[in-house]
Amino acid sequence: MRPETTPAMDALPLTRQAHHHLKSCLTEGDQVVDATAGNGHDTLFLARQVGATGHVWAFDIQARALEATRARLEAQGLAQRVTLIHAGHQHLEHSLPDNLRGEVKAVMFNLGYLPGGDHGIVTRPQDTLAALEASLAWLHPEGVISVMMYRGHPGGQEEHAAIEAWLRERRGVACERMRERPFPAPVLKCLKRS
Ligand SMILES: C[S@@+](CC[C@H](N)C(=O)[O-])C[C@H]1O[C@@H](n2cnc3c(N)ncnc32)[C@H](O)[C@@H]1O
Repeated sequence: MRPETTPAMDALPLTRQAHHHLKSCLTEGDQVVDATAGNGHDTLFLARQVGATGHVWAFDIQARALEATRARLEAQGLAQRVTLIHAGHQHLEHSLPDNLRGEVKAVMFNLGYLPGGDHGIVTRPQDTLAALEASLAWLHPEGVISVMMYRGHPGGQEEHAAIEAWLRERRGVACERMRERPFPAPVLKCLKRS
């Protein structure tokens, strides 16, 4: 995969870099997944990218996260572009319509805890790895998976290490080269099928 970052892009917060990267891969009408809806910033971004004819499937295990996401979408008149799914992303396979298998153009993971919420409720490595496997199975051949990992909270380093280990072992996944800053800075990975 081609090295993507430029000095200007490198200066952006990683959340913006993830959006920038996905923007170049998405078009009107696409089907996409937000694996961690949280406060809905990424879901709203995705809803804008897929347009009126596309759709976003947004997961979270916390009702308050989905409520925050719904409110954000409604404020922009975009709620009809999104299906909110109150379930863990590890259940992706049983939560999406069968006809989307191989059609999902992007899956966004923004791991860790809900900002402004209970910092003890975090994404867990075994669920995240199961969701990454399911995402690959449902991904369009040209689709992208973005994974934002935070290392500063309890469990964050272990989750990051588990994903790095999975990436070293997993065949058929190409990882975009992004600049990584020293611990405890977050890490962004953009993955494609190879
Ligand atoms: C960093 S926040 C996401 C931020 C969000 N993307 C945004 O734009 O505001 C992480 C979210 O992951 C959720 N989460 C934790 N475990 C999960 C799981 N197994 N499946 C889906 N969401 C999960 C948390 O409830 C939390 O809301």
